[in-house]
Amino acid sequence: MRVLGIAGSPRRNGNTDMLLAEFIRGAASKGAEVKTFFLRDLNISPCLHCDACLKAGICRIKDDMQKIYPEMENADVIVMASPIQFMGVTAHMKAMIDRCQALWARKYVLKVPPLGDKRARKGFFISVGGTKLTNLFEPTLVMIKTFFRIIDVTYAGELLYKGIDEKGAIAKHPDALQQAFLAGQKIVEDQLQSPSTDNILPKGP
Ligand SMILES: Cc1cc2nc3c(=O)[nH]c(=O)nc-3n(C[C@H](O)[C@H](O)[C@H](O)COP(=O)(O)O)c2cc1C
Repeated sequence: MRVLGIAGSPRRNGNTDMLLAEFIRGAASKGAEVKTFFLRDLNISPCLHCDACLKAGICRIKDDMQKIYPEMENADVIVMASPIQFMGVTAHMKAMIDRCQALWARKYVLKVPPLGDKRARKGFFISVGGTKLTNLFEPTLVMIKTFFRIIDVTYAGELLYKGIDEKGAIAKHPDALQQAFLAGQKIVEDQLQSPSTDNILPKGP
């Protein structure tokens, strides 16, 4: 059981980093093999829409995204963590998502599994925002759920916290960090008991 964390915040040890670390710690406590990428430390170009990936499902840009593709293929669970920035994910995470156009090409153009095999995989999303807007997470949830659907990863849930702004503010929340730890444990338990096979693939993007 491999759990891959993808940290999208530019802020080291910030709120989403802390939540993701607890989620990963919970997953590891149930025996999962864990790995986390911190996108801010990587060199990831935005997609250049060169369409090279349409031929073989492989992105021709040789940067740190080439480290992430194989880890996504190896993962049973992918957990994405990003604060809300201008009602979306961070630029770091958006670049990483857009580079998965190569996986879109595998599925919709080349008609092969986007992550190399048909193993059941689960996806989870962690986010915080500084405001308390009622629709704070709506646009981002559409994007994240679409992303997971396109790469054949079954969306398994989310942890979302509003009104969390200053660095470390999440630690003052009564139970957010514990919720993240428990969510990490639960997703591993669920995946071990009943790996999802119900990932209904859409006919188009
Ligand atoms: C560039 C930028 C844009 C932001 N946009 C939003 C926003 O649209 N809505 C919101 O509620 N908070 C917004 N915030 C606040 C962050 O979501 C908030 O500070 C969060 O706690 C940061 O999480 P982190 O510590 O994991 O980076 C923004 C912050 C930055 C730096």
